[in-house]
Amino acid sequence: MALWSGRFEEGVSEFTQEYGASLPVDKAMYKQDIAGSKAHATMLAAQGVISSADAQAICAGLDDIERTIDAGEFVFDINDEDIHMAIEKVLTENIGEAGARLHTGRSRNDQVATDSRLFAKHLCDGLLDDLNDLRAVLLKLAEDNFDVILPGYTHLQHAQPVLFSHHMLAYFWMFTRDFARVANARAAADVLPLGSAALAGTTYPLNRQMVADALGFAEISKNSLDAVSDRDFLLDLDYACAVAMMHLSRLCEEVVLWSTSEFGFITLSDAFSTGSSIMPQKKNPDFAELTRGKTGRVVGDLVALLVTMKSLPLAYNKDLQEDKEGAIDAAKTLHDALTCVSGMLATMRVNPDAMLEQARKGYLAATDVADYLAKKGLPFRRAHEVVGHLVHTCEQRGCQLDDLSLDDFKAECDLFEADITRQLDLPSIVAARTVPGGTGHEAVRVQLQQAKDALQRDSRG
Ligand code: ARG
Repeated sequence: MALWSGRFEEGVSEFTQEYGASLPVDKAMYKQDIAGSKAHATMLAAQGVISSADAQAICAGLDDIERTIDAGEFVFDINDEDIHMAIEKVLTENIGEAGARLHTGRSRNDQVATDSRLFAKHLCDGLLDDLNDLRAVLLKLAEDNFDVILPGYTHLQHAQPVLFSHHMLAYFWMFTRDFARVANARAAADVLPLGSAALAGTTYPLNRQMVADALGFAEISKNSLDAVSDRDFLLDLDYACAVAMMHLSRLCEEVVLWSTSEFGFITLSDAFSTGSSIMPQKKNPDFAELTRGKTGRVVGDLVALLVTMKSLPLAYNKDLQEDKEGAIDAAKTLHDALTCVSGMLATMRVNPDAMLEQARKGYLAATDVADYLAKKGLPFRRAHEVVGHLVHTCEQRGCQLDDLSLDDFKAECDLFEADITRQLDLPSIVAARTVPGGTGHEAVRVQLQQAKDALQRDSRG
């Protein structure tokens, strides 16, 4: 019979017992559950609610249980609905009456909210480190390949040449904002619910601040109903994970494209590629694809919890038990994906020649040729049209803009001088984008320093 069985004549059926149990999921939080119980018992003794001897027996008993679980020797029994009951039951079996005093002034409702917040903070800490590892890899790629030029795209059509560094740093800043989102989720979780009891608080003279200090919470919750029934801190975590996965998915989409023979911009290491069971020549970017694919799961985790929460009346409802699985899945999936993508990028080969070859195609100088005319006084719209005609001529002749003669240029507009050829050189086109945030070499040097400073600022000792 369950720990709450006093008012019941019969136990639940085997099926409903299993259906209602969260143990398979929340046993992952055993360390947080034990830390919370030790802090609660120690505080109860300090407040004279239980004896010091009982508190000591409880803490020693909980340490024993933690060791047993660490060693994989704890027998998890599905008849214990959740990790809270599993640990309390075994504690009471092991140490007797003192164990039965642990739940004084506490409910599983504030207990599970406390465990979940501690666990969310722990998950965030791991993700912050993972994000910084990826940011460091992107930064290194940007530094090591500083002069490499590739076509920048819009609509996946060649648009303007950009530095490979600039392209890598674009992702660096996305993951910098993901770092801030995960840090926000961590801060949202950093509030102690314990002391709220089932929903209304308790009559015992609890010292909630003492528990918050022992567990490392930044503050204590201000409203017991809110504390036991909201899970917005998990939504924050789910959202941060979903956005980071979306960013990884975009990056992986480029890895997939760039590793095709059509692009050939990068070559993945064998460690991050797979073969085909039928086609002996194949080298597939499976892990980039898988990461792109797993993004759907994590978005699903966020949506699932939002929908679970949306109609719940105050305060605790059993629906809330559905909160943990998705958040744990989202964080684990993001952790694995970040680990994978960091390794994949750190070991891939960058092929500057293939990038440059493509950058030479597709009239990437066109905007600069138009700017050349506009800077000589021709209205930009008119200049745009002139260059449009020149591109049309190239299309018909099957050549590039830099294959045209000065006469060809002058035939379209007499503002063209011999110096136009300088506007067609890829490194000059790139370098001319000196505006802060642009792809010009000087601007990217500044950006590299800004990225280093940001990573340094976010470094976690
Ligand atoms: N297993 C439950 C959960 O995860 C713990 C809280 C149960 N509280 C209750 N009143 N049934 O939400």
